Amino acid sequence: TWTMPSFIEKTVEEISIKIKPEEKVICALSGGIDSTVTALLVHRAIGDRLISVFVNNGLLRKGEAEEVLALMEGLGLKPVYVDASSLFLERLKGVVDPELKRKIIGETFIEVFEKKAQEFKGVKYLAQGTLYPDVIESCSFRGPSARIKSHHNVGGLPEKMQLKLIEPLRELFKDEVRKIAELLGLPKKIIWRQPFPGPGLAVRILGEVTTDKLAILREADAIVIEEMLASNWYYKVWQSFAVLLPVRTVGVMGDARTYDYVIAIRVVESQDAMTADWVRLPYDLLARISNRIINEVAGVNRVVYDISSKPPATIEWE
Ligand code: XMP
Repeated sequence: TWTMPSFIEKTVEEISIKIKPEEKVICALSGGIDSTVTALLVHRAIGDRLISVFVNNGLLRKGEAEEVLALMEGLGLKPVYVDASSLFLERLKGVVDPELKRKIIGETFIEVFEKKAQEFKGVKYLAQGTLYPDVIESCSFRGPSARIKSHHNVGGLPEKMQLKLIEPLRELFKDEVRKIAELLGLPKKIIWRQPFPGPGLAVRILGEVTTDKLAILREADAIVIEEMLASNWYYKVWQSFAVLLPVRTVGVMGDARTYDYVIAIRVVESQDAMTADWVRLPYDLLARISNRIINEVAGVNRVVYDISSKPPATIEWE
């Protein structure tokens, strides 16, 4: 057994011994705690022989790319930024099926990441923020059928690129990673960030993803996050977000009839995402969120609150 400070020391030392002086390591940053802690540990061990790549898939939330880049730079990581938004959106044109969206996004990510990696000489390793529960979940006794939705990560990438894996967190649980993150000086924003799916807003725009719909959802989602933070509810819940439904409903504004989109608000509490319950938010907070979305987001005239638990509903709508 080890304490968290000695885990950091031991891991950094192991990595610095393992990676030879002429070798490089690449990793994908997401702005989440697991990939950030992984990158920081490897960076401590081998410095700038770590190449950290941040891919913008065009499916991120309002201001997210800029914010993640600034946070990572603040931590000394010097991320390589790849804006592949138009490629992702091009490939998602006309795609309605949720699993097909995930597949396209996952494959495009691998393609973009691989192409970037080839620009650097001597890359021999891929660092990944795999945790112990991820290791268990991919074991054969659970099988892939235990996963209702395919999850987009860099699986398949190491073999394809002939990279060896470094997974410094693979024996840790989330709470242990949080302790390490604190010791490494990560901001609260990253340590307690709510989970955000790899396919991003694509699975929160029901049906086809378009730039217009992305713009609507980004604004609505930003209001949800802002109000959750302002009311101190953000860190009390597992996830809180907006979903753009593929239906329009009739409304009224002044003397005129409107025919606009519906936003669903999803706020859940959970321990591990396997089960979840909807959060009984105060009515005045819900009212504020609803009023702001309807007043501030053009194209939306109705907001509804999702009161389904998981199971039988899932957390995401797709
Ligand atoms: P569901 O919707 O299955 O979600 O109840 C459980 C948790 O997983 C997240 N989620 C995903 N994360 N890629 C991810 O990286 C995905 O395709 C994906 N789908 C769902 C979801 O946000 C929740 O935290």
